Amino acid sequence: MCPMSNTTIDREYVLGTDEQEHARLSLQHALWADAAIGQWARAGFGPGDTVIDVGCGPGFGSRDLARLLGPSGKVIAVDESQRFLDYIDATPTEPGCAPIETSNQDVQRLNLPGDGADGAYCRWVLHFTPDPQAVIRSVHRALKPGGVFAIQDYCRWQSIFWAPNKGGVETLRKCILASYASHKANSDVGQMLPTWMEEVGFDVVEIRPLQRIARPGDALWQWPTTYFDSFLPRLVKTGFMTQDEFETVMTEWRELGEQPGAFFFSPPQVEVIGVRR
Ligand SMILES: C[S@@+](CC[C@H](N)C(=O)[O-])C[C@H]1O[C@@H](n2cnc3c(N)ncnc32)[C@H](O)[C@@H]1O
Repeated sequence: MCPMSNTTIDREYVLGTDEQEHARLSLQHALWADAAIGQWARAGFGPGDTVIDVGCGPGFGSRDLARLLGPSGKVIAVDESQRFLDYIDATPTEPGCAPIETSNQDVQRLNLPGDGADGAYCRWVLHFTPDPQAVIRSVHRALKPGGVFAIQDYCRWQSIFWAPNKGGVETLRKCILASYASHKANSDVGQMLPTWMEEVGFDVVEIRPLQRIARPGDALWQWPTTYFDSFLPRLVKTGFMTQDEFETVMTEWRELGEQPGAFFFSPPQVEVIGVRR
C-alpha cells in the first residue's frame, strides 16, 4: 500500500508514517473534505491553476485538488515523508485531473523552481512544524503576487473534550500535549497565523472557525477513534503515556461509544485565507 524508495530517507512526523497513519489520514480526509473543498472555492482555486499542497501527506487532499484544477492545472505536492510521496507517485493520475508533481522538502525551507504558483494549501501541518513563520515566509516566496494561501489548522487544541467525562479527557490532553511539545509542535498555532501572514506580506481576507461535534454512530466518531487507536500506542512506546493510562482512556472511550447521550467535541480550528501583496 505504501511503497518505500530504497534511495531516500523517510522523515517521520510525531504521528508517524506507517500503514495505520496512512489509513487514518485517508479516513480523516474523507470526513473533512467538504471543509477543504469549501475553502478552495472561497480561495478562488480553479481550472488551470498551479497550487502547492504544503505538507501533503499521502495526497488525499492533493487528488481532490487535482480534480478541481483540471488537466491544464498542476498540483505540487510537498512533504518531508518520502514514504507518503512514493504513494502519490504510485497512484495513477485520474482522467481529466491535473498532474501531481511531488517534491521532498522541509516546508520550512520551501524552494520551488518556476515563476511562482497561483495558490497554496496547508492543512494540519503548521502545528507540527517548529517554525511555522518560516513556512509562511517560504510559501510567500513560492507564490506569484496575487497568489492565494489557504490554511486550516488548530487554534486551541486543549479545548478537546468528550462528555460524560470520567477523567480520561484530562489524561489524554496531558499525554498528547507533552508529546507534541517534545517535538516543538504548537497546537495553538492557528491563533497567530493571521498576524504572521500580515507581517510576511499577505492581506488576510478571511478568518473562520471550524469546529465539529460527533455522537456515537456518526461517521465522524471514527475520526477520534482512529487517532486514539493509532497514536496512543505510540505514546506508550515513547513514554508519554503509561500502560495503565492507555487502558483507562481506551476503556472510557469504548464505553462512551455505547452511550446515546455522549458526544465528542473536536479541537477548534481556524481557516485562514491570505492574498500575497
Ligand atoms: C497530519 S498530516 C496532514 C497531511 C495533509 N496535509 C492532509 O491534510 O491530509 C501532516 C503532514 O505534514 C508533514 N510534515 C510535518 N512537518 C513537515 C515539514 N517540516 N516539512 C514537510 N512536511 C512536513 C508530515 O510528514 C505529514 O505528512
